[in-house]
Amino acid sequence: MTDDELLDAARTVREMAYCPHSEFPVGAAIIDENGNVHVGCNVENAAYPQGSCAEAGAISAMVAAGGQRIVTIAVAGGGDKTRACPPCGGCRQRIHEFSDKKTRIIFKDNDDEWHTYSIDELLPSSFHL
Ligand code: THU
Repeated sequence: MTDDELLDAARTVREMAYCPHSEFPVGAAIIDENGNVHVGCNVENAAYPQGSCAEAGAISAMVAAGGQRIVTIAVAGGGDKTRACPPCGGCRQRIHEFSDKKTRIIFKDNDDEWHTYSIDELLPSSFHL
């Protein structure tokens, strides 16, 4: 699967986002170490802290399907005009748990330019057990 196809999967699941409070839909799509794709969207709640991010949903789907490593994760946020969505701080830690040195975190900015990072770039000096 190409990066564009993975981002398309993130954009498609973004349409399922439940985000009446922020009106900021987010979709995430992961390719795992087995080549399987898992998607998730943000699911908000009237009690705000109980909401969950798209990346969290995609990671849960991956683990439930037997995946343990993120090869690539694509994130797409906002409507058609605002697409850039670097993972939030909490999601960087979530991604870290299932990453290795080769894991790629990818998204496009508002000018349609690709941004590609490793988890060490997004979360330096990270906590791990
Ligand atoms: N959000 C995500 O789903 N992923 C991120 O990495 C950043 C933020 C969601 C949370 C909330 O539902 C909405 O975007 C606005 O913050």
